[in-house]
Amino acid sequence: MKTTLFFLFAFLFGLAAAGQKSGLFQPGERWPDNNGVHINAHGGGILFYDGKYYWFGEHKTEGKRGNQAWVGVHCYSSENLYDWKDEGVAFAVSENPESPVTAGCIIERPKVIYNAKTGKFVMWFHLELKGQGYKAAQTGVAVADKPTGPYNFIKALNPNAGVWPVNYAGELKSKKFPENLKEWSDDWIQAVKEGMIVHRDFQKGQMARDMTLYIDEDGKAYHIHASEENLTLHISELTDDYTDFTGKYIRVLPTGHNEAPAVFKRNGKYYMFTSGCTGWAPNAARLLVSDSMMGNWEYIGNPCIGDDKDLTFHSQSTYVLPVQDKKDAYIFMADRWNPENAIDGRYIWLPIQFNEKGNPYLAWKNEWDLSVFDK
Ligand code: GAL
Repeated sequence: MKTTLFFLFAFLFGLAAAGQKSGLFQPGERWPDNNGVHINAHGGGILFYDGKYYWFGEHKTEGKRGNQAWVGVHCYSSENLYDWKDEGVAFAVSENPESPVTAGCIIERPKVIYNAKTGKFVMWFHLELKGQGYKAAQTGVAVADKPTGPYNFIKALNPNAGVWPVNYAGELKSKKFPENLKEWSDDWIQAVKEGMIVHRDFQKGQMARDMTLYIDEDGKAYHIHASEENLTLHISELTDDYTDFTGKYIRVLPTGHNEAPAVFKRNGKYYMFTSGCTGWAPNAARLLVSDSMMGNWEYIGNPCIGDDKDLTFHSQSTYVLPVQDKKDAYIFMADRWNPENAIDGRYIWLPIQFNEKGNPYLAWKNEWDLSVFDK
């Protein structure tokens, strides 16, 4: 009897732990946390603080409505990047129906940065108000004293109200655009390129959907977000305490239709992975490069090679993680969404490789470990 029970428990434990093996990344497999539960941190980003990595992401629930925020932002911690400890819900949705972050709103792509001046942890996320689909296109900010939270909601907004982008030609500021242009007609696309939607949203603030954050070496932080109906990325400078916008922002590749931004810097160059806009369905990733965050971002091409390169290996970028204490070690983090059962979305982590020209590229690996960076 005892032996049977032992085998039964061993079998059940084995089932719970099935999925990604310790000491290996296995993109697309289930990734159990310290309790054997698949990590629930989608559209995530990572903060490195005081010797530990903290992974923040969307806490999804089962089924189709699992893409709405019923819980909040989940946090996990790790020292080795393979084994993750559940640190619980770092930012919780509100029970107050009047709150912009009330349960049933949409909270996506949360990112956390540490502000050395204030000693606070600052979380930004894409927020859609409950019952309004993706119309509000706001960004929300919450602050905590500890990396794992609790994060207190400060506000949500459409950024940069009443200010023009810095890279926007003077004469366009007073341009009058024709009304009722047919969407997607050449004239409409030209008008959007020239800032028609920036004009439309000038008073109330610009749209902010898919987003990421980036802190440069000088400590300045940037909020990078899909704006103008997802047609144009905006890069906005944050204030010194990282909890607000300074009003300095640029437009990136107007009408380029980029979302899912993920930024990193190598040898003085800034790189950004993005995706096209096909909702939860994957498409080909894009790679952009610039000499500065607020500079001229140029499109280089699709960074993926090999099978499924035009679907980013069935995933969409969310973050680039620089690995501590290793040179040129960056991990491309992406989501393989599961819109039918959101909680079962998978994580695609791949090492970023560099070609002879120094350009980053991505190749599929069934499994890999951090020793790839030692070669
Ligand atoms: C994707 C976006 C996700 C989510 C989804 C909703 O394009 O990257 O974060 O917003 O659309 O359909």
